[in-house]
Amino acid sequence: MAIDEGIQMKIGTPLTANAIRVMLLGSGELGKEVIIAFQRLGVEVIAVDRYANAPGHQVAHRAHVIDMANAEALRALIEQEQPDYIVPEIEAIATEVLLEVEQHGHSTVIPTAQATNLTMNREGIRRLAAEELGLLTSRYGFADSLNALQVVVDGGIGYPCIIKPVMSSSGKGQSYVNSPEELKAAWAYAQSGARVDNGQVIAEEVIEFDFEITLLTVRARGQSGHIETHFCEPIGHIQEQGDYIESWQPQPLSATAWRLSKEMALQVTQRLGGQGLFGVELFITGDRVCFSEVSPRPHDTGMVTLVSQHQNEFELHARAILGLPVDVNMRSPGASAVIYGGLEKQGIAFEGVVEALSVPGSDLRLFGKPESYIKRRMGVALAYGKNITEARDRAKSVASKIKPVAN
Ligand SMILES: Nc1ncnc2c1ncn2[C@@H]1O[C@H](COP(=O)(O)OP(=O)(O)O)[C@@H](O)[C@H]1O
Ligand SMILES: [Mg+2]
Repeated sequence: MAIDEGIQMKIGTPLTANAIRVMLLGSGELGKEVIIAFQRLGVEVIAVDRYANAPGHQVAHRAHVIDMANAEALRALIEQEQPDYIVPEIEAIATEVLLEVEQHGHSTVIPTAQATNLTMNREGIRRLAAEELGLLTSRYGFADSLNALQVVVDGGIGYPCIIKPVMSSSGKGQSYVNSPEELKAAWAYAQSGARVDNGQVIAEEVIEFDFEITLLTVRARGQSGHIETHFCEPIGHIQEQGDYIESWQPQPLSATAWRLSKEMALQVTQRLGGQGLFGVELFITGDRVCFSEVSPRPHDTGMVTLVSQHQNEFELHARAILGLPVDVNMRSPGASAVIYGGLEKQGIAFEGVVEALSVPGSDLRLFGKPESYIKRRMGVALAYGKNITEARDRAKSVASKIKPVAN
């Protein structure tokens, strides 16, 4: 290990025996920024993804392509690379390997192997939040067949409801159901959108919220050596078909909703444990706060912090992992707007970059994904402003000027 226990940590030199080595499991746009944050601190980074030239592969010391849901392949790679830290960026991982490594290996799993295991599946985290911690959530039930789903919905969830595969992200396989006749299609759609084919779905009551937020919560080691919890200002966002298209910071909240949000985030993250940043998703209705889900890692809606905070969510994650001090303060109100591929093609190009970056307060990330799909997130527009209205207008204007083209 290149790390002394406690606050006496030191950072070695990458590609030498005393390097701190971090392995990212998943190297998309969020992993890419985490890798850049580690690189800036002189950490050696190994990027892993299921396809070649993933965004994070392009900025890491070494890149590997494996199926991370394949336990043998994952075990062999960890054995070969011997990382000090394993940092999951996605949910579809053979988490049993992480549990083994944490118990018997030399790597620390971020935030913990148990947390990655509990959050990879909607059932684990929902039962933990609602049944173990007693947090307010939507009514919910689980089903592994169409018949069972009908029983669960008619037996208490009611209509309208939302059906989701227990293992999916970015709204994949998720549908709104208004009446019993629509259940069959929702079941079939969930089966097609599930990431790992275990067939299970969750049915949830629809919460009519005023708005939803992501509360970025950081568990970092304080000067005393104990873990301290820090809260970023709330991030508001808009989702379309379960996928985020716009986010901004700070989202105004009532004093009561803000206090309840922090209490919930504290409870959940304390229970999950470890060090790192978490994205706690909450639905806000007046002073009422309803827990939705949590990512034990940077959150897509948190890309706004690239422009709105002194230390963005990726830097906060890297610092918290390494046991370094963190600063969650904002720099300016900010906003982000997603740029989709809009076409199905490899090696696309982007026009309008000059016009986009002429918008005052603007910035841009193009992720460098080798292949574009209509609804694939290929970049994100960013902007700061004197308030969130100005920042959002600017970010949307930036996004609208970027034109993905075939060549
Ligand atoms: N029970 C619910 N009530 C109202 N809206 C919901 C509910 N569940 C999900 N949504 C909407 O769908 C989005 C995506 O759902 P989520 O459970 O976060 O899935 P994912 O894991 O794909 O992000 C949420 O951000 C919210 O906008
Ligand atoms: Mg979500």
